[in-house]
Amino acid sequence: MKSRHFLTLPDLTPAELKRVLARAVEMKSMLKRGERHTPLTGRTMAMIFEKSSTRTRVSFQVGMAQLGGTSLFLSPRDTHLDRGEPAEDTARVLSRMVDIIVIRANSHAMVERFATHSQVPVINALTDLDHPCQLLADIQTWIEKRGDIADRKVAWIGDGNNVCHSWISAARMLGFKLDIATPKGYEPKAEIVAASGDCVTLHHDPKQAARGADIVVTDTWASMGQEHEKAERIKAFAGFMVDGALMKLANRDAVFMHCLPAYRGMEVAAEVIDGPQSVVWDEAENRLHAQKALLEFLLAGKERK
Ligand code: CP
Ligand code: NVA
Repeated sequence: MKSRHFLTLPDLTPAELKRVLARAVEMKSMLKRGERHTPLTGRTMAMIFEKSSTRTRVSFQVGMAQLGGTSLFLSPRDTHLDRGEPAEDTARVLSRMVDIIVIRANSHAMVERFATHSQVPVINALTDLDHPCQLLADIQTWIEKRGDIADRKVAWIGDGNNVCHSWISAARMLGFKLDIATPKGYEPKAEIVAASGDCVTLHHDPKQAARGADIVVTDTWASMGQEHEKAERIKAFAGFMVDGALMKLANRDAVFMHCLPAYRGMEVAAEVIDGPQSVVWDEAENRLHAQKALLEFLLAGKERK
């Protein structure tokens, strides 16, 4: 049997995604009750991070420890990846030693090549194209706060980036409406939007997207690797900050989400991220619970080949 990978949300079926989300909620309560749950005792996770990380790195490492397993953090600088050893060879070698591999990479294509040559599951911990683990935590947060997300309206304000692409996949899989407002030239990838059916609407006016939304979500205007475009992007994104006035257009009980790290005064005003509608700290915490549910789904009860 081939290993299951998690490179993008549709690597799970909608039913599997809902199961993982429900399990994340359950595992969070188990942890809060002090119950130990160690189905991954004796299992090992390798983590390769080509880019910086606070939340993803810590949540995976802590999560694996709570599940009874161990993890090792590999910077490309300390392995041979930065000295030209191909991703394919690294995948063949590591997957003979560890049980699961988590990768944060500059290029999505590298993670796909890696997964093709890995005997064990590979998890995408963010690429230029997608950040599926973030969406597990974000949807878990919505479920805990308000219940089912089907038929709700989400407003994405800002850059049509990797996290936006994962929201598009989630909208299609879970049946909610996603209104995306970006400056011209910063839309999400056309092929990803095209695959989303009729659940996605593109705008260039943040107000149109925010009106009547249940969730307002944004992210940095300059993702990792785009630092050299920062000045140009700040100009292009003028008028796209999520502030109190924009939140007033959303539903009264709307929540504000941000994957973090956030830049106050740029994509979000302090009054919003630090205000009563913000659920960003729950989202960050849920990275731990959602990824534990994912690790359990991919590994528990499955023998090494
Ligand atoms: N949201 C998120 O992925 O954060 P890190 O970059 O800190 O992992
Ligand atoms: N879009 C951001 C997300 C960081 C978690 C980036 O790729 O840098």
